[in-house]
Amino acid sequence: MALISLRQLLDHAAEHGYGLPAFNINNMEQMLSVMAAAKKTDSPVILQASRGARAYANDLVLKHLIMAAVELYPDIPVCMHQDHGNSPATCLSAITNGFSSVMMDGSLHEDGKTPGDWAYNVAATGKVVDMAHMVGVSVEGELGVLGSLETGKGDKEDGHGFEGTLDHSQLLTDPDQAIDFVAKTKVDALAIAMGTSHGAYKFSRKPTGDILAMHVVKEINKRQPNLHMVMHGSSSVPQDLQDIINKYGGEMPQTFGVPVEEIQEGIKYGVRKINIDTDCRMAITGQIRKVFAEKKAEFDPRSYLKPAMAAMQTLCETRYQQFGAAGRASSIKAVPLADMAKRYKDGAL
Ligand code: 13P
Repeated sequence: MALISLRQLLDHAAEHGYGLPAFNINNMEQMLSVMAAAKKTDSPVILQASRGARAYANDLVLKHLIMAAVELYPDIPVCMHQDHGNSPATCLSAITNGFSSVMMDGSLHEDGKTPGDWAYNVAATGKVVDMAHMVGVSVEGELGVLGSLETGKGDKEDGHGFEGTLDHSQLLTDPDQAIDFVAKTKVDALAIAMGTSHGAYKFSRKPTGDILAMHVVKEINKRQPNLHMVMHGSSSVPQDLQDIINKYGGEMPQTFGVPVEEIQEGIKYGVRKINIDTDCRMAITGQIRKVFAEKKAEFDPRSYLKPAMAAMQTLCETRYQQFGAAGRASSIKAVPLADMAKRYKDGAL
């Protein structure tokens, strides 16, 4: 199957009432783990790469990794998505490197640090939409800055994120503005700020409504039920993965992620894309630490990368099942990007 656009996948997810995990990848092992999980559970795939991942792996390598994923698994629809594009130029370079979807994160300026105001965000995102839709590539925008409602701190990941302290009006997406933003920019999906942040250290306790603002999802859904929402920073940071890392020499302080049941609740109210990177990193790291601790004479990277991939695959399979994506891949027939472009042009999307 050819690469598929995010819009087609999210429309299908909305029609059938499920959510799709979007897994970040940097390398071959992560790509293979996601694809094996998708194959086993018959799930559609969103692979995403941040700017950090593109710099780490090299665009050419990533492009061929995606092509390999598509060729290895012809029955699985695969969307390749640019995570947190910081400028129209970054989004354009992703498109020219074969991505079928881009995120223009205008909640921050191009430096990836300074919050962008409304006018900047609308203009930059609208520009990317104009460009991307011409070639059938879909666009995710973001309104509101990701960060903790507990500390007021923005998050920082792969060199992207606000470093200082923000007030709640910046850390929570305003539902009325969200509707206006989507109408003005014509984005296919909207990432919202609701107290989630990237990385393992999201919450100092199991989150309740004051620090994980699920009401924002419900308010937006009430206003526009067909709007596809994206939850960033949605790793659940499972206790068993923290325990494995710490059992084998890690020193991760106790922390809490986004409970799966909260994500499942969000899916009932229009959350369609759920971004997960940290959980995969932790699954991998736990197994590598275990081999390092138990087999000290071992030096073949495959001896620790194989169990690492198996653990990541299990994590991905679990999320596909939990979000209702399992069993959906075989009912999707990829619409070529050129046909998606025509649909945008004709106003059918
Ligand atoms: P986590 O760090 O919670 O996995 O979030 C990843 C993410 O949102 C990528 O955009």
